[in-house]
Amino acid sequence: MEKFVVHGPCRLQGTVNISGAKNAAVAILPATLLVDGKCHLENVPDISDIRAYLEILESLGSKITYISKNEMIIDNSDVGSALASYDLTSKFRASYYLLGSLLGRFNSVQISLPGGCNLGARPIDQHIKVLEKLGAEVNVMHGNVYAKRTSKLIGVPIFLDVVSVGATINAILACTLADGITVLENVAKEPHVVDVANFLNSMGAKIKGAGTDVIRITGVESLKQNSSYSIIPDQIEAGTFMVAAAATRGDVLIKNCIPKHMEPITAKLIEAGATVIEEGSNIRVTMDKRPLPITVKTMPYPGFPTDMQPQMCILQALANGSSMIVENIWESRFHYTDELSKMGATISAHGNTAVITGVEKLYGSPVISHDLRAGAAMIIAGCVAEGYTEVYSIEHILRGYENIVDKFNGLGANIEYIKEGN
Ligand code: EPU
Repeated sequence: MEKFVVHGPCRLQGTVNISGAKNAAVAILPATLLVDGKCHLENVPDISDIRAYLEILESLGSKITYISKNEMIIDNSDVGSALASYDLTSKFRASYYLLGSLLGRFNSVQISLPGGCNLGARPIDQHIKVLEKLGAEVNVMHGNVYAKRTSKLIGVPIFLDVVSVGATINAILACTLADGITVLENVAKEPHVVDVANFLNSMGAKIKGAGTDVIRITGVESLKQNSSYSIIPDQIEAGTFMVAAAATRGDVLIKNCIPKHMEPITAKLIEAGATVIEEGSNIRVTMDKRPLPITVKTMPYPGFPTDMQPQMCILQALANGSSMIVENIWESRFHYTDELSKMGATISAHGNTAVITGVEKLYGSPVISHDLRAGAAMIIAGCVAEGYTEVYSIEHILRGYENIVDKFNGLGANIEYIKEGN
């Protein structure tokens, strides 16, 4: 069994470098399948979700040449099959991008129903709706999703019923090589949606409007090979360190981020009493007092990201007064509040709302990472708490944060990685 032991309390201080964005990389890797040739990728985060995706690509016939752990050339000229293994694709959510990319290139595709963090119901009806509108036949049976087409996918106007990151990106992937023009309305505007469009456009795709409510894709015959692309920095990793700096009343320079992407988080930190200064592609966060109470309502970008909700809750748990969280994206994202209660936090969560009565101190305790972002929150809580905090189920954290222990320890935290037994 693996665990982190966080010895608290500590004040985070210093400089941290942000890695490439997980949620862009998990879409760009399958997007490379649309190229019958080579792509060069930089700033790819070295995390377990990405290693799993690279394994899936290799199982499909991709040849991967590593220049470093964050830079590689992917050659998809020998990919001949669109049958992705159940074991590999059932492990994580983003395997659904193989539907759009493989159906863009081949006549049929089979993947398992996607797994991933347990955040409540995670339907894929909008992904299926998009593929069907483009002319594919899609069936979900025995835990697998099968999609096939008898001719090229054909661009049409499509209105998404809910704003979905995954369905927006899958639509972009499926339409890139389709015949004609697709107009996608009510789409997600997250930075990683824009990054996927920029990556495909750098190879000759014709995708306009990514980052707005309407995306227009004119299908092209093929994409150019031998392109080179650097993935954007991870908004949520940067946000995690911003909140960690404020929660520990520290002084941290977060390097290599895109301050524009951080605005919803920056605004809440300033409301809570932190000082946030943008310096080019860096952000400095300092805090020297107890946080003020704040209300957080999660929304699609440019609203406050659901993936920052558990981390921000640590600041609220320490605030001088009562705070509130309204979760508008995922139906069950509050499991972690029971773990924080073990550490002395006072939180009452019902339905999509949590009310947090701030306390002066948290105390170390054994806690579980219920999901990736909840795990990051447990680490921040452990840095704040008196005594030591054992964080279990850390495989969730390792899915999405590169070198998290070294990065926190580089700022003055004291976190041990411990592996017990076999
Ligand atoms: N939804 C539907 N039908 C669909 C798709 C989504 O009803 O076909 C609903 C969902 O139930 C949810 C809402 O739409 O209520 C938004 O879901 P979305 O599709 O945007 O989420 P996702 O693409 O599955 C991505 C991130 C998540 C992040 C969400 C929201 C990836 C691989 N995952 O998930 O990231 O929470 O967007 O921003 O990009 C994480 O990184 O920790 C993580 C969970």
